[in-house]
Amino acid sequence: RLSTISLERIVDSTNMMAMREIHQQGVISGRLYLAEYQTAGKGRRGRTWVSPFAKNLYFSLVWRFTQGAAALEGLSLVVGLALVKTLNTLGISQVQVKWPNDLLVHSRKLAGILLEMHGDASGECQVVIGVGVNVAMPEHAEEAIGQPWTDLKRLSAGAISRNQLMSEILNHLIPELDRFSEHGFAVFRDEWQEIHAYQNQTVRLISGVKEIIGECHGVDEHGALVLSHSGIVEHFYAGEISLRQH
Ligand code: BTN
Repeated sequence: RLSTISLERIVDSTNMMAMREIHQQGVISGRLYLAEYQTAGKGRRGRTWVSPFAKNLYFSLVWRFTQGAAALEGLSLVVGLALVKTLNTLGISQVQVKWPNDLLVHSRKLAGILLEMHGDASGECQVVIGVGVNVAMPEHAEEAIGQPWTDLKRLSAGAISRNQLMSEILNHLIPELDRFSEHGFAVFRDEWQEIHAYQNQTVRLISGVKEIIGECHGVDEHGALVLSHSGIVEHFYAGEISLRQH
């Protein structure tokens, strides 16, 4: 159900390209956008995704869901899980997820996911699933990124081709998107918690000016983070929250 693939050398952002085409053309589910370089790569929470010409993977996949945006909580966790499974099959083990959807190896970021929705809460909606995987970062990327990172080149004995990586991701991701459409996040919950970096650990959650230190009990059946603190159990939805190890 992949319809077309668009491969560009330079774009502002594959997510922005996809969103523009949704606005211009309406339903474009199954379209994949790939680029070699992004001049304005977007990260979560308004950040920049550093996107050098470096044999990294930058892509956005547009997927249509009929159950409305409100039912899509947990989708970004499912995408993270599909990526971890893909990397495992390529021999990259020890990949964990940091809620909601950063991929980490030994606390260093390997990949990021940015979902953007087009549609309304109740009707059908198209989701731009943007993924950046560090395949082979240049050394000098260190300062620009501003957080510990790693890449596949450093983690793998043999070289991993981006073509192989991309096709394996689609082989894993597309069936999981269908399974999510049918059953929601609940059926992924246990698997996700197995690869959760902070499962049953003390974490610091930052939401705006609020900072909470609590015990992390994983996620609920919708993919919200479950934290016990100050004698209560609270569920947090992605939004503007950021999570740290305490
Ligand atoms: C994050 O961890 O902050 C999310 C990063 C998502 C980056 C990818 S790269 C391909 C796609 N296009 C973008 O502009 N962003 C996503």
